[in-house]
Parts: sequence; C-alpha cells; structure tokens
Amino acid sequence: MDKLVIEGGKPLSGTIVIQGAKNAALPILAASLLAEGTTTIDHVPDLLDIDVMLNILRELGCRAEHVGGTVVLDTETAHTSHVPESLMRQMRSSIFLMGPLLARFGETQVYQPGGCAIGERKIDLHLEGLKALGAEIEEIGNRIICRADKLQGADIHLSFPSVGATENIMMAAALAEGRTTISNAAREPEIQDLQHFLNAMGAKIMGAGTDTITVDGVQSLTPCRYKVIPDRIVAGTIMVAAAATRGQVTLQNTQPAHLSSLIHVLRRAGVQIVVDGDIIKVGCATRPKAVERIVTSPYPAFPTDLQSQVMVLLTLADGVSILKETIFEGRLKHVDELSRMGADIRVDMNAAFIRGVPRLYGATAEATDLRAGAALVIAGLAAQGKTVVEQIHHIDRGYEKIETMLSRLGARISRYAPVPNN
Ligand code: UD1
Repeated sequence: MDKLVIEGGKPLSGTIVIQGAKNAALPILAASLLAEGTTTIDHVPDLLDIDVMLNILRELGCRAEHVGGTVVLDTETAHTSHVPESLMRQMRSSIFLMGPLLARFGETQVYQPGGCAIGERKIDLHLEGLKALGAEIEEIGNRIICRADKLQGADIHLSFPSVGATENIMMAAALAEGRTTISNAAREPEIQDLQHFLNAMGAKIMGAGTDTITVDGVQSLTPCRYKVIPDRIVAGTIMVAAAATRGQVTLQNTQPAHLSSLIHVLRRAGVQIVVDGDIIKVGCATRPKAVERIVTSPYPAFPTDLQSQVMVLLTLADGVSILKETIFEGRLKHVDELSRMGADIRVDMNAAFIRGVPRLYGATAEATDLRAGAALVIAGLAAQGKTVVEQIHHIDRGYEKIETMLSRLGARISRYAPVPNN
C-alpha cells in the first residue's frame, strides 16, 4: 500500500487551481445514462471513485474515455441494467445508478453498496422515493431488484434531506410521467449542478438549492456537453491546511458562496480570508483562536466532509473548541490518530472537546476514511518532524494527486509505493 511521508513545519504558500467536484461528477456520470448517445463532461477529477464509476458504466456496455479532465461517454451501447456486486461494493456512490437505470431500462438489479467506515449509511430513502414513483422493489439478501413499466410523478417527502436520495429521485423523475415534487430535499451545491446538467439534456427541473424540487417529466433527454463545478471540499481542505501551517495561499476556480459556513468558522478562528470573484486568499500569521461550537448539518450549515480537517486547526488553537458531528455516527475515528500526534481531544458521544496545544508532533498515522485521511495530511504538514500517513487509497478516492498539489504550495511531502516482491 502506498503511503505519504511529510516533513512538517513549513507554511504553505502559493497559488492553486481547484479540481472539479467529485460529488457532482459522480451523479452526473450516472445521469448521463438517461440520454442515449455521447455526452461530454469537462472538469472531471482524476480520482479512484471516478475510475470505479467509469468501470461500472463500461461494464453496463457504455464506452468511456477520461483524458485531460474530460470524460467522453457513449451510452448508446449500454445493454444491461445489472450492476455486478463486486463493483457495487467498491464505492457507495454506485447507488446513484439505480434511478437512471430504472428510468432507462424499466428495471435494474443492484446490490447494497455495503458498510462504510464512517457509519451505517442506509439507502431506505432512495428505495422509498423510487417506490413512490411506481417502482416495485424486491430485496433478496444483498440484491435489490427494481422494476417499473412506467414511472409516474409523485409527491415525495424525505424524512431527512439525504443528498444521494434527492439525486436518485431527481434522475428517475426526469423521465417519469407528470410532476414529481421532492420536499425536505437536500440543498447541497452538487444537487444544483445535477439540476443544471439534467436541464442541459432537456429535463424540466426547478428548485434545486431550496428544500422543494419540482421535476416535470419529459419523454426523452438528449446528450450534451457540461462542465462540473469546483470541489468545495478540496478547496476547504486547502484553506484549512493554509491556516494550520500559518501559510498564505490563493485558491483559483472556487465558488466562495459554497464555502460560506467554512469561511465563517475560519474567520471566527482569526484566519484572514479575502474573497474576490472565484478567488479566495487565505492567510494566518498568528496562532488561531478556539471556536466555541461547530455543528455539522446539511447544507448550508457546516459540512461533515470538512469536520475532520477543521478539527486539526482547532487542535492548534488557543482555547477550547467543541465540534459536534450529527450526520455520520462513525466520523470521529481520526481523533485517536491526532491524539498520538499530541492533540488534546476528549470525545463524548458525537462531540469532540478540543483543547488547543502549541504544536503537534509527527507520527505514523492511518487514514481511516477519505476526509480523515486529508485531516492527517494537514496535521502532518503542521506538525514538527516527520509524519507517515498510511492507507492513503482512501485519500486517492477524493483528492487528485494530493502530494503534487501540496508540493506546489511548498509542502515537503512524497508518496512511497511498496517495492513488489519478485
Ligand atoms: C453525500 C456525499 C458525502 C457527504 C454526505 C453528507 C456524495 C457522493 N457523497 O453522501 O460526501 O458526506 O452527502 O453531506 O455526494 N441516510 C438514511 N437513509 C438513506 C440515505 C441516507 O438514513 O436512504 C442517512 C445516512 O445514513 C447519513 C445521512 O442520511 O446519516 C446523510 O446521508 P446522505 O445525505 O444520503 O449522504 P450521501 O448521499 O451518502
């Protein structure tokens, strides 16, 4: 397994262009199945999760190429709606294929995407939504068989604003007969991006970004060319890394409005942030201040996907901060690793009480999930001495060549791959 070796203590400095959003690209790739023909998607990041999605689409019969950030996807040749279990289990986001496959083929067979390091991650809301649109769903062990001769628009209220369920229902409803209304819908920017993409293919969807989305079904969709929004979580990770190393970084290709909760938290911590169009400048010359209370919640509140990274900054702050995780029950596993680097954190249920220390010390630490892995990299950059981050395949799921990106900002970070035994 590859690992990252970091010599910490060097402030990040320089300019970086932010990659396209993984969490927007994945549902958009799945939604491409709704239109027969060749769709071109620009600004698709080069990541493990994207590779898995493209491999699934190829397995379904599509032709897919990913060159220089552009995916060219021909869905005309798709011939099956059955996703093999081995591929389903490689990535939770494979569940996004259920809605589009059902709408295109009138049936689909998928598998439970399986457990996850950050919590249980149920799919009941996805299934309830598709049932409301007229699907018959049979669950045999891990296997889920969905059938619908015809999808019919419906009023669907989500008991929780699930991002994935909102997206799956939008995609299936795009080709349903009549109007679908999703209330208590998730409001994340990636949902707006999916709406823009579907509408570019000819769908009639309104309201993404609010808690009520209306989908007027159309008979068919046509392929299009589309550019994915910038990744707000990657941008947020770099912003926190800049602050934690007391550096000065300029981020280009961002949508600052998507980062307003993070910007608010960082400013409360005393970090300087200047926003100018799609550029964000982050600087932190002195020790950050503690932030009394941060609670992760659905957008536009503070994102769970930035919780672990911000925790690293707070371990170095002056005073006691409280960070509460309300989205995923298993998402404080990085606390043990950070504690071994000298952080002073006490966990009570889903809340972390963080007493800032003057410095962290390098250690060998294990990435337990994607964002926890990114947090350990930030800790390594800020720490005194050498840090080794293991299990970095988690990080490769969401960050495009993280070591190259950070080296360009002056970080001393290298990737080591094991030498194969002959
Ligand atoms: C998406 C993001 C992920 C982010 C998460 C929350 C993608 C590819 N991933 O994941 O990075 O951390 O949003 O912002 O976009 N739930 C149910 N039943 C369901 C679905 C969800 O109980 O049918 C629960 C989950 O267990 C979890 C919560 O709802 O506790 C949030 O999940 P959801 O919003 O669906 O997240 P994802 O779409 O999986």
